[in-house]
Amino acid sequence: MTGTSTNQVWDPERYARTAAFVPEFGREVVELLAPQPGERILDLGCGDGVLMQALVDAGAEVVGVDASPDMVAAACARGFDARVADGQQLPFEAEFDAVFSNAALHWMGNLPAAIGSVRRALKPGGRFVAEMGGEGNVASVVAAIEWVFEKRKLDVLRLNPWVFPNFDGMHHLLHQRAFHVVHLDCFERQIELPGDITDWLGTFAGTFLAAIPEDERPAVLAEIREELTDSQLREDGTWWIDYVRLRFAAIRMD
Ligand code: BEZ
Repeated sequence: MTGTSTNQVWDPERYARTAAFVPEFGREVVELLAPQPGERILDLGCGDGVLMQALVDAGAEVVGVDASPDMVAAACARGFDARVADGQQLPFEAEFDAVFSNAALHWMGNLPAAIGSVRRALKPGGRFVAEMGGEGNVASVVAAIEWVFEKRKLDVLRLNPWVFPNFDGMHHLLHQRAFHVVHLDCFERQIELPGDITDWLGTFAGTFLAAIPEDERPAVLAEIREELTDSQLREDGTWWIDYVRLRFAAIRMD
């Protein structure tokens, strides 16, 4: 769930409270993977390990990696083999039958390096099954952050940690790194948040907020919230975000 070396800080308790929908939707990606008993599977961006449990339940031998030491500690506390690693430089060579990843790849600023790294970690014929944000993902939130930050003369492009490729770009990246793409889908998903939009921002937008002095952050969050109210807050008081997902399954050739 969390993927790389931005200055985003992850808090397992906060993540479980504000973002449990992320691994819940990830169960559909586990279905696409169809893990088999005895397979050795890498969970790239394993977060606190919620989906590692689903892979273990299928009888797989699972290793998780995540860039966040706190999330890895939470996964280890569940009894899993989880390690701190950068997905763009995985320390594995042809040892996994499959690499699984849910909602982590869009944190990897160098996506080509991440895909190359996954390729090296897989055995020839191994499968790479993942879901990540696609072009236009959380567009309303990005636009609101841009508006508020640009008013403060902050370089929002430099701060944005998220990589959301489009369908053709993703196909090209996989193909270029010698993957045979067997499934690639791009679709929209409206997410009802479990709480206020500022909770979502507190969990996911840390890289932006870190650029603001701590005592000014509440005011900045309030401005972003105000900017999003018309489009994302419904009359019944629920907050919604427009996600765009890229979901794929690809086979390492040779
Ligand atoms: C996502 O899962 O789509 C996502 C996560 C964090 C920030 C933006 C999007």
